[in-house]
Amino acid sequence: MQNARHAIKRRSDYQSPAYVIQHVELDIDLYPHETRVICTTQVERKSADQQPLVLDGVDLQLLSVRVNGADWTNYVEKEQTLVVDGLPDAFTLTIETQIDPANNSSLEGLYKSGDAYCTQCEAEGFRKITYFLDRPDIMAEYRVTVRGNKSAYPYLLSNGNVVAKGELDDGRHFVTWHDPFPKPCYLFALVAGDFDLLSDNFVTASGREVALELYVDKGKRERGYHALDSLKRAMAWDEQTFGLEYDLDIYMIVAVDFFNMGAMENKGLNVFNSKYVLADGQSATDDDYFHIESVIAHEYFHNWTGNRVTCRDWFQLSLKEGLTVFRDQQFSADMASPLVNRINQVNVMREHQFAEDAGPMSHPIRPDVVMEMNNFYTVTVYDKGAEVIRMLHTLLGVQGFRRGMDLYFERHDGQAVTCDDFVQAMQDANQHDLTLFKRWYSQSGTPVVRASGEYDQQARQFKLTLTQHTPATADQAEKQPLMIPVNTELLGNQGTMVQTVLSLTQAQQTFVFDNIDQAPVMSLLGNFSAPVRLYDGQNSSARQHIVMYANDPFSRWDAMQTLYGDYLHCQAGSAGEFAEPISTAGIVELQRSLLNQAMDSPALVAEMLCLPSFETLVQQAEQIDVDALFDARNALLNQLAEALEQDMLAVVQQLPAQAYDYQQNQVEQRRLRNVLWLYLGRLDQHQAALKSHYHDADNMTDCLGALRAAQEGNEQTFDQLMVAFEQRWQDDPLVLDKWFGLHASAPRKDCLSRLDLLSGHKQFSLNNPNRVRALLGSFAFYNPKGFHAKDGSGYRYLTDYLKRIDPINPQVAARLVTPLTQFRHLDSERKSLIETQLHRLLDTPNLSGDVFEKVSKALG
Ligand code: ARG
Ligand code: ZN
Repeated sequence: MQNARHAIKRRSDYQSPAYVIQHVELDIDLYPHETRVICTTQVERKSADQQPLVLDGVDLQLLSVRVNGADWTNYVEKEQTLVVDGLPDAFTLTIETQIDPANNSSLEGLYKSGDAYCTQCEAEGFRKITYFLDRPDIMAEYRVTVRGNKSAYPYLLSNGNVVAKGELDDGRHFVTWHDPFPKPCYLFALVAGDFDLLSDNFVTASGREVALELYVDKGKRERGYHALDSLKRAMAWDEQTFGLEYDLDIYMIVAVDFFNMGAMENKGLNVFNSKYVLADGQSATDDDYFHIESVIAHEYFHNWTGNRVTCRDWFQLSLKEGLTVFRDQQFSADMASPLVNRINQVNVMREHQFAEDAGPMSHPIRPDVVMEMNNFYTVTVYDKGAEVIRMLHTLLGVQGFRRGMDLYFERHDGQAVTCDDFVQAMQDANQHDLTLFKRWYSQSGTPVVRASGEYDQQARQFKLTLTQHTPATADQAEKQPLMIPVNTELLGNQGTMVQTVLSLTQAQQTFVFDNIDQAPVMSLLGNFSAPVRLYDGQNSSARQHIVMYANDPFSRWDAMQTLYGDYLHCQAGSAGEFAEPISTAGIVELQRSLLNQAMDSPALVAEMLCLPSFETLVQQAEQIDVDALFDARNALLNQLAEALEQDMLAVVQQLPAQAYDYQQNQVEQRRLRNVLWLYLGRLDQHQAALKSHYHDADNMTDCLGALRAAQEGNEQTFDQLMVAFEQRWQDDPLVLDKWFGLHASAPRKDCLSRLDLLSGHKQFSLNNPNRVRALLGSFAFYNPKGFHAKDGSGYRYLTDYLKRIDPINPQVAARLVTPLTQFRHLDSERKSLIETQLHRLLDTPNLSGDVFEKVSKALG
């Protein structure tokens, strides 16, 4: 089973390149099955010895090799390399290859997406286009000529500026592009097709005019405006916040239907999954609007953090991703509600990142060992990476952080660098020793912080003792103490007595507070000041005190989450560390008082009324009884709906009806309304009203809110509304994905036969990652009842599909296998059922390196 594709790479093995390439000329003649690529490079030897030039290449048909214009025969083609020998110190290398984009279902390299051609080169896809030194520390200037049929592909796009274009024979034409900024090949892009084009412009702070162009499928132009507006907001924000301006004269974004990830920051030519571009009120939810704005901003921010300064090697991925996620999070917080943003980020950490840390794929934000790089575009590298940057921001302050950023660009503009270089710039700009802080880059796992307090009435003194301990992870047995900022609020009867940030740097430390007049309630880790699990040993009445009185609204939300969690785990009989729970009546009364504040702070109240997701709860206990936990959650939701029906109805009735606009007030009110429907939709007497909520809605947010409420609440209503939804949207696959997802995550007994039916739907296709994620991803990640069915049928079902998807698209298969690898919290019967399926996968002939890496680790 193990072959060259399954080789392991180590960070410690990094060597600077033996040869460098500073100029690249690409000539690409597009044909569906026989695209010709001529790659001409200026190569220079850097090493002292005469070692051969080893170029990367995958799935290429080699046609010719020339050196300084003459045919060259001193080379060997190996499985994934071309080894060229006997070379002079500096030379022009010309390699001609042929590729088959129409049959490239991996969506990596050059492929056809519907009627268009496009590329995805990060991380190591450029080697599927031509033989090259496919590593990010090779930075070159590119000149690219694209040829194609003029009527089918009126737009021939690549990075930078157009320098020539013209007509060719046989109805073909060409365009030549030049990108003046040296870049690694993973930022190369090419798009060819026919599109609707939205044009706009942006004048930078220094007065340069930038042309903005957004390319979408024909007929979708009206859905492009939100993305374009988002881009302008992001451009302005980066100037104001970090003094960073755009550097080319044109910025292009293309939306495509077949894409493995969210989007890609290719220099001057972003390629996007259409899911993160297209929106109007009818077809997109408030969440979709939010994500479009944030992904558009993310890719734009990469122009500085990623493109101008890039990664030396792929182990450094968090250098650009953690930092850029942090930047897009700050942007989103400035555009709308910082609180709701923070809550969503923390939910992602607790649901997915903690799970990754606890599973077989655990790795530090800067991994040490990688088999398939595509497997490391993870919540750890991205989201925990952003949390690490956020801690630096907390530590150094807004201005200190900005000084560090300025120094980073001053030192490294135009370079390929490491995470250490970034931290060093932060350190030097602030004369702040970050030696200890750097451990966050090398240590994996979720630290556990424990707190205990001791109050001395006589001395009017409070002593807070914090300890930290990081449990061993699959990749790393030994752990050391980290530098952990702990936002601390001490609450008395009259409210906040102290609010400060403590810095925990040792295994155990005691902090002394003087002039404290009463035994305080501790509200710790405000705003989730560090990516850790906290156990403070306080009881549920202390927790209620935080819910009512903490200054930090995040802490109020978080305390509520703990109350719910302790209650549910106690009901489900889970094994773990839980406080004596609050009574059901206690939760009812807390929610009632929240409902009374609902009109004043709809956003906060809406989030506080939400129970922790099933996935978050799973991370909090061992040997989870899936059914008991699911039923406990369901039962509490029903009890709350019954007890608070009138209070909830009163709020729903007060919320004003308005014509749809993606605007903060409205977003918050819709969120509150739909959270309330999640409760009310469980009551038989409100089914007619729930249907009206769906049918009267002028927007997708409320339609989907009604569908979710029905999905949890009432099978008949759900079935009726789903039929209506399909009729309305059957010709719009992107919108229909929501429908696939709702079906796949519905806790129904006949779940698997429904999935079979859906996979035969005329809009479903195993080749399109969005469809696959909507159906199978929703099932595996968000249908605990169905996926974890006691007879193992859910595990077998997913495995059958993975065996079919892997040969088509290994990246998609490797993402979808995740729920089968994170079984630590499950009972032993389920673990062994999962193992059986993992063995079936591992025995699959020609299994991709992507899936092999994750499955073999899971079987340990
Ligand atoms: N750099 C892209 C981003 O903005 C993601 C590209 C991921 N590509 C991959 N093959 N895993 O985050
Ligand atoms: Zn990114």
